[in-house]
Amino acid sequence: MNRLKQHGTQKPRILVVDDSSMIRNALKRELVALGFEVIATDDGYQALSVATQQHFDLVITDIEMPRMDGFELCGQLKHNTATQAIPVVMLSSHDSDEAIERGFKAGAAAFITKTNARQELRARIEDVLNKALFLRERLVLVVDDSKLVLSIARKGLAQAGFKVATAENGARAIEFLKKSRPDLILCDLHMPEMDGAQLCSVLRASSEWSAIPFVLMSTAGERGVIRRMLERGACGYIEKPFNVEQLVIMAEKLLSDHFQLLLKEKERLDTERTLMIASITSLVQALEARDVYTRGHSEMVADLSVAMATEMGFSDEELQTMRMAARLHDLGKIGVRDDVLLKPGRLTDAEFSLIQRHPVIGAEILGPIPSLASIIPGVLYHHERMGGQGYPEGLKGGRIPLSARIIAVADTYDSITSERPYQAKTGKEKALQIIEDVSGDQLCPDCVAAFMRCIT
Ligand SMILES: [Fe+2]
Repeated sequence: MNRLKQHGTQKPRILVVDDSSMIRNALKRELVALGFEVIATDDGYQALSVATQQHFDLVITDIEMPRMDGFELCGQLKHNTATQAIPVVMLSSHDSDEAIERGFKAGAAAFITKTNARQELRARIEDVLNKALFLRERLVLVVDDSKLVLSIARKGLAQAGFKVATAENGARAIEFLKKSRPDLILCDLHMPEMDGAQLCSVLRASSEWSAIPFVLMSTAGERGVIRRMLERGACGYIEKPFNVEQLVIMAEKLLSDHFQLLLKEKERLDTERTLMIASITSLVQALEARDVYTRGHSEMVADLSVAMATEMGFSDEELQTMRMAARLHDLGKIGVRDDVLLKPGRLTDAEFSLIQRHPVIGAEILGPIPSLASIIPGVLYHHERMGGQGYPEGLKGGRIPLSARIIAVADTYDSITSERPYQAKTGKEKALQIIEDVSGDQLCPDCVAAFMRCIT
């Protein structure tokens, strides 16, 4: 589920509804293997009851079922405020246009045919869940002096999964904007106090609000005004009287275009990040090639750190950051002269100070790359100690970032169990004893405990 936005460490919950026990069980097995938590029922009535009592992120329902079919179940879920925001995916044995249209009319988010389910299931579910999560976080502000329009728009948009706020004229809308930032504004043209054209001008002239998409709601006779407003920055209009479906489609489309842009931007950043990591990894390899003793150290520290972080319940994204930070923790040694870094004997105070600069040098190398900002704390603070005697800042206890405390344990273990110019290699038992001994004063006790669970 790499493409799925993280819901903390919780697995997304899916309610499966199918009267065939064979399909129900096969689907459940498949979804559990994909990492979802699944509850299965064999009947629409039972599904409605479970869906109102428990939290679900998605419902997947068969269409042809006795007593209540999938269309009716979907319609009922969409009519209940407790369940209306849960996206519904319909699973059908045939994909006639009529069935698909009925499904979407009932409020389904996607349609999968049983023959394609195996290949399509994962991708479609990820898309639907990501979109639902995205929409659930979107706030639409509806501005209209008609209570009826406000009530219809509020109900329809909320049913589609949006958060909705309302204001009865432009002036109230401005008051609202000072406190919250909507993702979309739907605005009537004629209103007392401040009309739609005035509100649109105020928003476009403001550096803070000009990027919020603004959609005008107006009657057909006002084409001239609509054209002028589109020229002045409104991004669309919807003709009154409209039905709720048109409104929802318009809102989803505008926000989904925005969603696609965000996704593209994320992909671009991911690619940039991957390329960047590849170049920096080459740097680390070059660094380790200077010193036969530390060859492979970064990889070993990365493996140990990730094992500990997994033990401590990190999410997939946090684990990725952990691995990168651990691989690059000694990057700054690139800025330490050979005669100091590779000196076999005891270091003088001045030489030791030079070595002690490596966390700061590492953070300075990574600093200009925005996509690597999250790994800097692990690099910069991996030589801090719980009691405050570490460097570069002498941070104490919980003030040391967790990633740095984890790297410190892995780094200590790998350093003492490897052969170095200044020390002979220590055996595993002895090394574990040393780690226990310095737990609390030097190393984080929680991290040491996680380490012991991984290593023994
Ligand atoms: Fe280091």
